[in-house]
Amino acid sequence: MDLYCVMGNPVAHSRSPWIHARFAELTGQTLAYGRRQIALDGFADGLVAFRADPEGTARGCNVTVPFKFDAGAVAQHVSPRAALAQAVNTLSFREDGVHGDNTDGAGLVNDIQRNAGVAIAGSDVLLIGAGGAAAGVIGPLLDAGARRIVLANRTLAKAVALVRRHAALALAHGAVIEAHELHTVPGDFDIVVNATASSLAGAAVPVAAGVLRPGALAVDMMYGPAAAGFMDWARAHGAVPRDGLGMLVEQAAESFAIWRGVRPPSAQVLAELRAQLDG
Ligand code: ATR
Repeated sequence: MDLYCVMGNPVAHSRSPWIHARFAELTGQTLAYGRRQIALDGFADGLVAFRADPEGTARGCNVTVPFKFDAGAVAQHVSPRAALAQAVNTLSFREDGVHGDNTDGAGLVNDIQRNAGVAIAGSDVLLIGAGGAAAGVIGPLLDAGARRIVLANRTLAKAVALVRRHAALALAHGAVIEAHELHTVPGDFDIVVNATASSLAGAAVPVAAGVLRPGALAVDMMYGPAAAGFMDWARAHGAVPRDGLGMLVEQAAESFAIWRGVRPPSAQVLAELRAQLDG
């Protein structure tokens, strides 16, 4: 049996095992996908234990908070997009070693374009936050053709560092990327993405509603109650709110495609998961 899992801490509420089991069912792939709670200082040991699992052959794993940096350190081969994000969420165990990739940005891009039906090419994007979640999506947004990306963060220096890291890629695409403080964001945007933990902390949305163009798409990377504050704010100001459930399913689909060479029917699985969570 080919084995996969999600490694994290905490990991008990992860939807990944259900999502990947459903992908496998719908594509006729035979595999088992579990979850492994890893000690905070024990990522490498956790990986060794998974690869020694007598139930089958470990082929790969997803890596979630707080191990995306550790996962990059154990990979012998790191994809360009993971190197740019400085984070790995997908490991593949192959004959020539451990490969690390980051599918979070592709997940967001695919959710925005395929599921929400909004084109990124030529668009102006505001990304709120400059932590790990934000870092993972900038490269793929540029690759998808965003015309301008503004990073707004409470701590300006972190946004500036991300702009510097992505400056060459932006230049190559003829795009503009800039950093601002939360209350000095200039202009308005077609797509606004909340990559902060502000809703989780119960804090108000940290930017002025003027950033939303009429009918803008406003995506929170979280889902469930953690996304509610941002989505209510977006709806109240004439934007189209969207939670992070689609991004979750689409990043999983990208990982599944890397491992199995088959693209699962992600829109169907997203609809099923949403029905499950709403029900
Ligand atoms: P993640 O990996 O989920 O991105 P992180 O690296 O801790 O987590 O980053 C959290 C992000 O949310 C940061 O951009 C943080 O701002 P700072 O860089 O200034 O810390 C942002 N954030 C968290 N709580 C916030 C709040 N109440 N208001 C505004 N921004 C907040």
